[in-house]
Amino acid sequence: MSTPVKTENALDVFVSQARELFAREPDLDRRWELLAPILAKLLADPDVIAASKNWPECVPRDGRAENLIFYEDPDYGFVVNGLTKDEGRIAWERAQTRAHLHDHAHIYTLYGVLDGHERIERAVRIDDGSRPDYAEIRRTGESYVSPGEIDLVRPYEIHREVSVGERAVAVIIRSQKSGGFMQGRYDPENNRYWEGLGPRQTPCEMLPDQPGR
Ligand SMILES: [Fe+2]
Repeated sequence: MSTPVKTENALDVFVSQARELFAREPDLDRRWELLAPILAKLLADPDVIAASKNWPECVPRDGRAENLIFYEDPDYGFVVNGLTKDEGRIAWERAQTRAHLHDHAHIYTLYGVLDGHERIERAVRIDDGSRPDYAEIRRTGESYVSPGEIDLVRPYEIHREVSVGERAVAVIIRSQKSGGFMQGRYDPENNRYWEGLGPRQTPCEMLPDQPGR
């Protein structure tokens, strides 16, 4: 009886190339810029795109988003997340109106669109941060993004990924697992600032074994 040979899938390739980059590049801005083309290959993989059609729906609850977590690196701490935006999530975003931009605190994030389209909004803080519960921000732009496009979100950068009303799926690489630390939230209409926990993390297989392969 022969032992089945396990071939490397696109996630295995991403993880080994990311680990090799993290080992050789200590400059964080540079490291995260160089990670984008490695993520681009994962986003272009037909097996990942096909599998994402069956990833479970991410359901926002108690004011918090949900992310799927496919991988957490034991040495470098980076994680590979998935985010599916189905009807429930789209309605949740709509209910938040245009307020509620956010940052990811101290972590770096690559937000890669895998399927569908979204709009990404960006803003910068213009007050000095000295007043609690208060922040003035200025919008700096927005862009409509398609599969394969990647947004690098550096520490404390203010942004929002907004549904355009269709199912959308993202693969998100974070320098640290979210959910256990506070992230900033911004309501530009009232200059209100507050903090909340990031998305809760639900373990999931990115590429479930397919029979016959
Ligand atoms: Fe975000």
